[in-house]
Amino acid sequence: LTTLFPARSLAGEHVVLTAGPTREAIDPVRYISNRSSGRMGFALAAAAARAGARVTLVSGPVALPTPPGVERVDVESAAQMHDAVMARIADCTIFIACAAVADYRVATPADAKIKKNDADMALALVRNPDILADVAGGAQAPFTVGFAAETNDMQANAEGKRRRKGLDMIAANWVGRPGSGFDAEDNALEVSWDGGSVALGPSPKTRLAEALLEVVEQRLRDKQS
Ligand code: CTP
Ligand code: CA
Repeated sequence: LTTLFPARSLAGEHVVLTAGPTREAIDPVRYISNRSSGRMGFALAAAAARAGARVTLVSGPVALPTPPGVERVDVESAAQMHDAVMARIADCTIFIACAAVADYRVATPADAKIKKNDADMALALVRNPDILADVAGGAQAPFTVGFAAETNDMQANAEGKRRRKGLDMIAANWVGRPGSGFDAEDNALEVSWDGGSVALGPSPKTRLAEALLEVVEQRLRDKQS
């Protein structure tokens, strides 16, 4: 992390990002969600805007201010996030999927608050669409960057996701370790692509965002040349 990310190096690019958790309704007052704070995605959006890109940030429910110069679209569920991304992806040149998207939603959310009774209960869940895989598999796909937050076998899991989803790059991080992952101010990333990898951090998410964008920009130029 020695070089400073050049000021206008992403001028002319349209960066679309997802960030934060999604909420999958059980009934009008309850939902299924996860521990994402949204900080890594918001830091990346801010850094991309500072680097001169047009930035669209599709965010699940988070407690963060919109970074300067960023167009923010708020969504709740994975299905809404999928639709919001697909509606904005046509002229996107770099797509970064930071969101912790719920893999499943409740099959039939209740219209009214569910009342308890003496029996146990089971929730039927159905698969959500994979936003990142759909973007990467689309016609004229942008440069696609995925994240992989893992508790075990980080490299192998991340590499599998990169290949399965057809991504240009994946950024893997450990969760449940001190100083990394969800709800942490600092993070460390193992970034890999077809034929290379680099370790970034541990450092504050703002600094890490600049370092990751620098790697993205280099790989994007390589792909274009
Ligand atoms: N992702 C997405 N849409 C989904 C699920 C995941 O866009 N429905 C994106 C995430 O934003 C992340 C990447 O895919 O960039 C990997 O997410 P992750 O949950 O780690 O991988 P999955 O493929 O869902 O596999 P699993 O949860 O089983 O590890
Ligand atoms: Ca998942």
